[in-house]
Formats: sequence, structure tokens, C-alpha cells
Amino acid sequence: MANQVKSGITNIFELQPQDSTPLYRQLYERLRLAILTEQLTAGVQLPSTRSLASELGVSRNTVLLAYDQLLAEGYIEGKVGSGTTVAQVLPESLLSTSNNKSKPQFEYQQSSQKRLSHRGRALAQTPLIPKPLQTLQGKQQRIFRAGISAVDAFPHELWSQLIARRARNSLQNLLTDRELRGYLPLREAIAAHIVVARGVRCTPDQIIVVAGFQGGFDLAARVLLDPGDPVWMEDPGYLGARGALIGAGANLIPVPVDTEGLDVTAGMAKCPQARLVYVTPSHQFPLGVTMSLARRLALLEWANQNGAWVLEDDYDSEYRFVGRPLTALQGIDSSDCVIYFGTFSKVLFPALRLGYLVVPPDLVEAFIAARHFIGTRVPTLEQAVLADFMNEGHFNRHIRRMRSLYAERRVTLVAALKRELEFEIYAPETGMHIVLWLPPGMNDKLASQQAAVVGIDAMPLSLFSMTQTRAGLLLGYAAVDVHQIHDGVQRLATALRAIQILRLTCCPLAKKSRCTTMCDRLCQS
Ligand SMILES: Cc1ncc(COP(=O)(O)O)c(C=O)c1O
Repeated sequence: MANQVKSGITNIFELQPQDSTPLYRQLYERLRLAILTEQLTAGVQLPSTRSLASELGVSRNTVLLAYDQLLAEGYIEGKVGSGTTVAQVLPESLLSTSNNKSKPQFEYQQSSQKRLSHRGRALAQTPLIPKPLQTLQGKQQRIFRAGISAVDAFPHELWSQLIARRARNSLQNLLTDRELRGYLPLREAIAAHIVVARGVRCTPDQIIVVAGFQGGFDLAARVLLDPGDPVWMEDPGYLGARGALIGAGANLIPVPVDTEGLDVTAGMAKCPQARLVYVTPSHQFPLGVTMSLARRLALLEWANQNGAWVLEDDYDSEYRFVGRPLTALQGIDSSDCVIYFGTFSKVLFPALRLGYLVVPPDLVEAFIAARHFIGTRVPTLEQAVLADFMNEGHFNRHIRRMRSLYAERRVTLVAALKRELEFEIYAPETGMHIVLWLPPGMNDKLASQQAAVVGIDAMPLSLFSMTQTRAGLLLGYAAVDVHQIHDGVQRLATALRAIQILRLTCCPLAKKSRCTTMCDRLCQS
């Protein structure tokens, strides 16, 4: 059992006595994170060792040891026992930790600015999707990261057998394959799949096999855009797409997304002459909504009339748990303005780095020529193995198995959240993640940081937004075993309630000229 929480202030420092990490070390890590994330800002007075020990229900020695360590490393100043405050100047090492992860990148740009092109600088400054958080205190795996599939449920044995068979029997042929669009049997298998499953209209000749969505999207942006061209970007939207568009010099026009998907009318009002639009109509990333048929038709009509390209990212539509998905936009496009992107990153595993584009017949030659010079073709052995996997029925079997696994995990997560928290949830019966909306005033970046302390990797929605967005957390369920879900949700609920309590108990103090309690930052959120 975790130590009982005795006040709002100590809630965020809830310690785990059953954990093999010593209590003083846990407290040290919690305090250090609070300093790094600026919940404890420079000059804030820490509670006395005696009062913090009594609030946390631990010995005074535990708190003394934690404070000593922070003092030795330069995070706090003063004298343990007679008043300590958060250091005015933090140690150098802080630059490479926690939410300051972007700093080394920024410093690199500064020092090498002269050598970078405009495009290089723009790309280097674009926010990256943070890497999944690794273990907590070196042991426990952080859970609920959105976008991660159940790689442990992938049929590894079978996959290795297929690789071995190909290497043994047909490696010679694969060494000399010169297909510019990609391995023909794979393109045939993809076409057969998407025509039936997604209503895409295409022949294998329109398919170009690429290095995942990202490889295909960068190619499309290079072929279709000139620097300065206006582009509608879903807001909030996928950072991978945003980065590639920035790399192509696009002038990004953020277009809001509501319950019906991309707001086409808003896009037309903001920039009717946009050259291109990026959309995730089947399952908007990150909000999860499906674009309504009316909006789809309006988008296609606008694109047709204005000579604009529609780039449709259909990254995880295989995972729909009830009913059939709406046909892809590409399938209802009669004017050849849609370029369709599929990927195997979600449906199989991300390190495969295989995806595909479906381009209108007139564009095929331009795309393969551009791809030739960029040099991003993908290895044939993996393409051949994937073709076998699809042609021998394993692909559809895997999708069916994952669908029922993810459906169960989704239901378990939603039920646990409803039991533990009264927050609003958006949990469509599709995809691999849900949105947990946060109550008004709660900052999702801080909520995400607090969740990380208790082993939860919940990305904040604001990370994906170019303008103001409602605060929320993304919770991925595909890779989380049902037995872990309940415990994980309890930990998340504790972390979020702590923020709420802090706000409630500390806000009167914030009316003072300077709030000197530990919740300094939260009061202002
Ligand atoms: C919206 C969206 N599109 C595409 C992808 C897949 O990208 P890739 O195929 O490059 O792994 C992701 C993966 O996270 C995604 O979230």
C-alpha cells in the first residue's frame, strides 16, 4: 500500500514503501522532477524536514537524506535543518533532463546555425514526438503510451520462418530486383487488401512502396509543394506530417477539428487557395473522431474546384471494433486529387518501416523519378516476406486477433477510468488510444509530467496543437495487458487528483503577492 496522502502538498510526493528503491531516493527523485518541471521554482522555500516527514509518514532521516542529496547536487540551497530553498541557478546537468529535452537540440542549432540551410534549421526546430518514456526508476515499464501496438502479440516465430524461407529459396532473385515502385507481389497484395477493406480504387501500378508513412509523406511534400505554398494542417494534428511539411517550406494554416473532423468551412474561410491539405479522416490523430460524409464531400469538392491536393493518412483504420469503417476518401474521389497513405507500423510493427502510397495514375512517373533521386527505396527481402505474410492469410488473421485483443483492452480501460475519475472521456470504437479530457484550468503538460512520476506515459494533447486546444491526455491501450490497466488507472487517478487538490488547497495562498508553497506553478495554470 502506498503511504497515505495527508495533504495536497504531499500528494505529488506519494512514496511506495513496497518498492525496492529506498524511500529517501524516491523522495529525492520526486523533488528533483518537481524542480526540473518548474513546479518548484527558484527561491521557493521547501517545508522543514520535520513537517515533510510527518506529512509523508516517513522518518525525518529519510527527508534529511533526500535534502542532503539535492543540496550536494545543487538543486537546493541553504542549510538542511534551518531553511532550504530551490536553487536560483540550476546545475548544468539539468539541461539534458526531463522537459528540457529540447534544449540540447536548440543549442546544437545555435552553434551550427551558419552551416544549416533554411530547411535544415526549420526541421531541426520542429518539435519531435517525444520518445516513449522508458522504465520508472530503472524497473517498472511506463504504460499507456499512445500509438504503440501490441508487439509482444505479433507472431514472431512465424515471421522468422518466413524470413528464413525467403533467404534460403529466393534470395538470388531478390538481390537483383529493380522494381522502382516496390516489389510487385507486395503491391498486388496491398492492392487486393485496400480495395476490399478500405474501398480504395487502384491498380498495383498506382502503389509505391515507401519507408513508412514518413518516407512517403516527405516524398509527396517534395513533389507537390513549392516553398511558401499554403497548406491546411489539422489542428491538433500529427507532428510527423507537420515536420515534413515544414521541411518542404510549406506555409502551414492550422484548421480546427471538431466532432465531424476537419472543419472544411473554417479552412475555406482562412485560406481558400491552399495548395494541399493533410487529413486523417478515418481516425483523426490525436482526437480520434471520424470525418463525417458531409465534410468528406465538401473537402473533395473544394479540392477539385481549387486544384488542391488531399493527402489522406489512413494509419490505423484496420482497428475498428464495431461495424465497417467509412470508405477511404480516395475511394469517393472522382477527380484524382487524393493521395492515399497506408503504413504497416500500426497493424504489424513500427520497426518494419514499410508503408505505401496510392497516387493518381498521372503522378506515378513523377513520384518514382523523385524517389529515385532521393534514394529512399526499401529493402526487397522485407517486402517479399511481407508479401508472403499477406498472401498466405497471416495478415488478415493477425488483424482479427488484434481487433479482439484491443477491443477488450479498450473496454477495460474505459471502465477503469469511469470508476476512478469523473473526467470526460472520448473513446471511439476504433484505433489504439482514447482521449481523457481534463477539467477546466488543469494544464495537460503538467498533468502528463505528474503521470510520468507514477509510471504513466500519457502524452498531452497540447503537444500536437499549433494554437490553443482543450487540455487532455492521450491514453494508448493496445500494448497494455488488461491486468495492468486497473492498477495503471489508479496511479494516474492519484496523480491527477493530486493536481486538483493542490489547486483547491493552494489557490487562496496564491492571492498573496507571491505564492511560496510547493504548488507555485499549479496555481497559475
Ligand atoms: C497519424 C499517424 N500517421 C502515421 C503514422 C505512422 O508513421 P510511420 O509509418 O512513419 O511509422 C503514425 C504513427 O505514429 C501516426 O500517428
